[in-house]
Order: sequence, then C-alpha cells, then structure tokens
Amino acid sequence: MKLLNKTAIITGGCKGIGYATAIKFLKEGANVVIIDLDQEEIEHAVTNLREYSERIEGFAADVTDKKRVETSIQFAIEQFGSLDILINNAGIVQDAQLLKMEEDQWDKVIDVNLKGVFLMTQSAALRMKEQKSGVILNASSVVGLYGNFGQSNYVAAKSGINGMTKTWARELGRYNIRVNSIAPGFVLTDMVKKMPEKVVNMMKEKSLLNEIGKPEDIANAYAFLASEEARFVTGTVLSVDGGLTP
Ligand code: NAI
Repeated sequence: MKLLNKTAIITGGCKGIGYATAIKFLKEGANVVIIDLDQEEIEHAVTNLREYSERIEGFAADVTDKKRVETSIQFAIEQFGSLDILINNAGIVQDAQLLKMEEDQWDKVIDVNLKGVFLMTQSAALRMKEQKSGVILNASSVVGLYGNFGQSNYVAAKSGINGMTKTWARELGRYNIRVNSIAPGFVLTDMVKKMPEKVVNMMKEKSLLNEIGKPEDIANAYAFLASEEARFVTGTVLSVDGGLTP
C-alpha cells in the first residue's frame, strides 16, 4: 500500500476526480477527509466510500471561507492525528468569451480556483511545517498551459496554480514539503458532461490515444505524486491528458 496511515484532505471530494481520488487513497491505506460544499452530499459520499475503508470522514466547507478552511484542517488532525497530504481538487467553470464575461463570473472562478487553493495550502502548510513533512497537490488543467477559447477566467486561475506550485515548492522545500500540480486533459466528470457533445468528441479526436480520460487516471497520478515513490519530485506540473499537449 503506497499511502498506508497517511492522512489526506481532498477538496471537492464528493464527485468526479476528487471522489475517484478518495477511493484510490483509501485503497492505498490512507486516512481520508473529503471537503465539499453540501452536508447531505458529503454524508452520501462518505457512506459510499465506507465500502472501501472505515478511515473516511467528511467536512462541509467552502474553500473560499478562511475560517472554515482552518477548521477543516483542525478537524482532519483531530480525527487522524496528522495531516500528510492536501489535494486541492475543488474547482468550477463559468465560461464566457472575453467580450461577454460578467465581472461576477470572473470573480467567482478566481475565488474558488485560485484563492481557495491559497487558503487551503497556507493553512495546511503551517501544520506540515511543524511536522517537517507534507505533500501538496493542486488541480491545474492543460488549458492553464496553452489557453482555451471562452475560459479566460479559468485559464487565469489554472495558469496561476502552475506559478503558485513552483513558488511554494521553492518556499516549502526546506520544511520537507513537496508541492506539485496535475494538469488533466479532458476527463469524463459532471464538469465535462455539461459541455456540448461536439466539443467532447473534438477533444477525444485531439488526444493521441483517441480517448477521454477517466477520473481514475487522474487519481492514480495523485497517488503516485503523494507517495514516497515521488520523494524527489517537487515544483512540477504533470500533464495527464492522453497526449493532448504533446
Ligand atoms: P466536478 O465538478 O465533477 O467536481 C468538483 C467538486 O468540487 C464538486 O463536488 C463541487 O461541489 C466541489 N466544489 C466546488 N466549489 C467548491 C468550493 N468552493 N468549496 C468546496 N468544494 C467545492 O469537477 P471535476 O471534473 O472532478 O474536476 C476536479 C478538478 O479538476 C477541478 O479543479 C477542475 O478544474 C480540474 N480539471 C478537470 C478537468 C476535467 O476534464 N474534468 C480537466 C482539467 C482540470
């Protein structure tokens, strides 16, 4: 087991990639706390996740709310005694082309996808610094590497995550904290299911493997980066995209 007795927080863990990552981490022996917005959805997810292991808890928090973020970190430590891994997975899209984008769409996407990652990481890193070890993994996106039509708010956030990852890796390496990002390509989750079929088919054709990714593909990469097998990997943005960005 790659992650035996490690405690991981996974934001946005009720659905999609976050949920698949919770399953993978439980199978690898980790203690997992999922953080998400809705208490009922969390309870439902936790009940289902108990099929894989009893070492699963949930906590309702909006990652943009500093107080709740801090309480969520305390909660994980109270439940399992340490905090070893933070997966900043929660993210949203609100697409519009530049000429039509509302200020509110800009603010909301930047708030959740960028500020949320900052708040969670700062709060977690303070604890990890004390224990002189930790792993922080951020959800970027391939669009953060090459841009995307109608997604300037989302692209700004994901490019920002790549920059923060490299900066935090520099700042936190001295405390034995590794920081990396994963840039998924197209992965079949609710986020992608909302997109027009035409776009989804186009992305499939662009992939060198002629495939849309599965949440498990990203979960497996998170498990590798979180584990001791990746002990010498920090400050990197790993594309997991079926060759969308060769
Ligand atoms: P999803 O939409 O299926 O799930 C996101 C989860 O985050 C939901 O459970 C949602 O309730 C939660 N969430 C949203 N705002 C939150 C907040 N303020 N506080 C706490 N939780 C919040 O998303 P999916 O597709 O699983 O994506 C996960 C991450 O991967 C996101 O950061 C996304 O940008 C990124 N990503 C996804 C890709 C894809 O093709 N699905 C491609 C590239 C990146």
